[in-house]
Amino acid sequence: MNIPFFKNKKSEEPSLYHDENIADHIAIVMDGNGRWAKKRGMPRIAGHKEGVSTVMNIVKAAVKYKVKVLTLYAFSTENWKRPKSEIDFILRLPKEFLHIYLPELIANNVRIDAIGDMENLPHHTIEAVQYAIDRTRDNDGLQLNFALNYGSRNEILNTMKEMVRDIHDGKLSLDEVDEQQFSRYLYTANLPDPDLLIRTGGEKRLSNFLLWQLAYTEFWFTDVLWPDFSEEEFLNALKEYQQRQRRYGGL
Ligand code: IPE
Ligand code: IPE
Ligand code: MG
Repeated sequence: MNIPFFKNKKSEEPSLYHDENIADHIAIVMDGNGRWAKKRGMPRIAGHKEGVSTVMNIVKAAVKYKVKVLTLYAFSTENWKRPKSEIDFILRLPKEFLHIYLPELIANNVRIDAIGDMENLPHHTIEAVQYAIDRTRDNDGLQLNFALNYGSRNEILNTMKEMVRDIHDGKLSLDEVDEQQFSRYLYTANLPDPDLLIRTGGEKRLSNFLLWQLAYTEFWFTDVLWPDFSEEEFLNALKEYQQRQRRYGGL
């Protein structure tokens, strides 16, 4: 028998958004800026610039849909391999983003934070981010984390070194070292693990992002390039998450 060639569109559409199973913590690998620009015959940095307004659109959507924590991968420890001019441009974007949007973020009760090896970033980047962190410290709405100069292996190694140092100094005993204790030494110490990981730009890999923290996270990939990523796409990810069944190894 021939199976009729049509798609049951309804069954593919995620159900309506509701208040149950909201992903509290969403982590996003914002990928595809360079390809977005290349497709338009523009230099890669034009894609990074365009990606800045997407960040704000998605932050506003996260506020709207009551996400508690949004962690955005903005610059990896491996991105230093890129041409200096591109690196310089990317590392100026946090300042630009905050210059334009900080008042709106404050109006939305957003609390800003950062994870990563911040010390080795240019001063202007650190200053801009630190100002925003201080300025939004008392806000209790969405927590917005920027992963800047972030690399998960580097984070795990540093954690291990710090723990060994604390054991050596008698501040920590080896018997106390368990998964919870280990998590407290990570950049994400006070955060719940992400419920949902989104990666735009079509690649299906983690690129050294939150390796420890993503152990039981749900993954959602899209080919849409970051500058084209919209509230509608974001909502599709949230809705699909609501239909996932998490088992954590159980039944
Ligand atoms: C992601 O876009 C942004 C950063 C890594 C800073 P890319 O710059 O990786 O864009 P593609 O993947 O080359 O298209
Ligand atoms: C991951 O994207 C890092 C960020 C989005 C900041 P990359 O473009 O650097 O990842 P790879 O090189 O394709 O794995
Ligand atoms: Mg990329």
